[in-house]
Amino acid sequence: MPALRVALVGAGNIASHHLPAYAQFPEQVELVAICDLDEGLARRRAHDAGVERVYTDVDTLLREVACDALDVCVTPDQHAPVALAAIAAGRHVLVEKPFAVTLADCRKVVAAADRAGSTLMVAQNQRFLPSHQAARAIIAAGELGEVRAVQTDSIQHWGALAAGHWQHDGARAGGGAVIGVGVHRLDLVRFLAGDVKRVLSAVTRTASPRFVNGAEEYAAATFELENGAVGQAFAAVSAFRSPWSEQLLVFGERGTIHASPAPGNVRSRAFVASERRSAPVVEWADQFGGFEPVDIAAEGLPSESGQVNEILHFATCCASGAEPLSSGRDNIGTMKLVAGIYESARTGAPVELDDL
Ligand SMILES: NC(=O)c1ccc[n+]([C@@H]2O[C@H](COP(=O)([O-])OP(=O)(O)OC[C@H]3O[C@@H](n4cnc5c(N)ncnc54)[C@H](O)[C@@H]3O)[C@@H](O)[C@H]2O)c1
Repeated sequence: MPALRVALVGAGNIASHHLPAYAQFPEQVELVAICDLDEGLARRRAHDAGVERVYTDVDTLLREVACDALDVCVTPDQHAPVALAAIAAGRHVLVEKPFAVTLADCRKVVAAADRAGSTLMVAQNQRFLPSHQAARAIIAAGELGEVRAVQTDSIQHWGALAAGHWQHDGARAGGGAVIGVGVHRLDLVRFLAGDVKRVLSAVTRTASPRFVNGAEEYAAATFELENGAVGQAFAAVSAFRSPWSEQLLVFGERGTIHASPAPGNVRSRAFVASERRSAPVVEWADQFGGFEPVDIAAEGLPSESGQVNEILHFATCCASGAEPLSSGRDNIGTMKLVAGIYESARTGAPVELDDL
């Protein structure tokens, strides 16, 4: 198949994790232009990537550049406007997480893509980490039996960001810890264990005056999955020193998976223990052992990088018309969980996600 011609919009931090896909797999994805409001930044990235066409305005780019798709890496408040402009101009769209800053915006973009026949994918890169796909295959094959509970956390420290940074501003980011970092693991809960039915309780906390317009520093939530499994999530972006933590535990009736990255290494493997593969518990201490790394080779993914794999998956879906593994439509479920947590924290009451 011919390479998908892609223009990158937003040349900041996360763009540096997308660019290797274009450098390493040019026969599948060809980077044809880079756009950023900050022209100097766009030029530096374009120079490094060997790209000639540089823009500061996405509408001009869409008029002038022959491309099939936009790779949207702008700030969250700009996701929906840029995605809608791209779809209106007949392009496919890969958009960074969080999908958009409101559920209504997410739905608007999905509807526009459906009408236009555009492929729409949300860059939930953690779905494309080999260990997470291996964990999913193990669960789907029934090795854990029925999933009974999930537990997850996402712990970071945003204190090093400059005052006034968009991540401190709920109006630009859509919120704080939950939508900013928690969304990765909430999406992964759905990817591994299925949809969430209701948020039972949630609490958020903001103390620092740096965080404005409803951006929370800490959040905790309990929820129930469609199959009745118990769920718990914690997110923090103001932890005073913490090992990198993006823990995810899936407890099944006959096995447990844990994906708890070593400090600083989000690509660490996931581990599984199950009746089928682990020695039986005889002594009290045996219950804590028996975990072995999931087999990441079995998934046959081209890269260790979730971003590289997601961009190649997007290109394949654009060519075939297949629904991406993290399509806009699917991601509505993740964004309903995010919205449900915020709604429950605001009202103090449980929230049925079907009502959102
Ligand atoms: N998948 C991940 O693990 C991950 C990690 C970090 C960030 N992100 C997401 O990536 C997105 C960007 O985050 P970042 O950390 O790279 O931010 P950033 O501030 O470093 O970069 C964003 C860039 O977008 C540009 N921009 C904003 N609006 C624009 C517009 N309308 N047209 C053109 N350029 C525009 C800004 O000038 C800036 O250079 C966010 O949605 C964020 O949530 C994802």
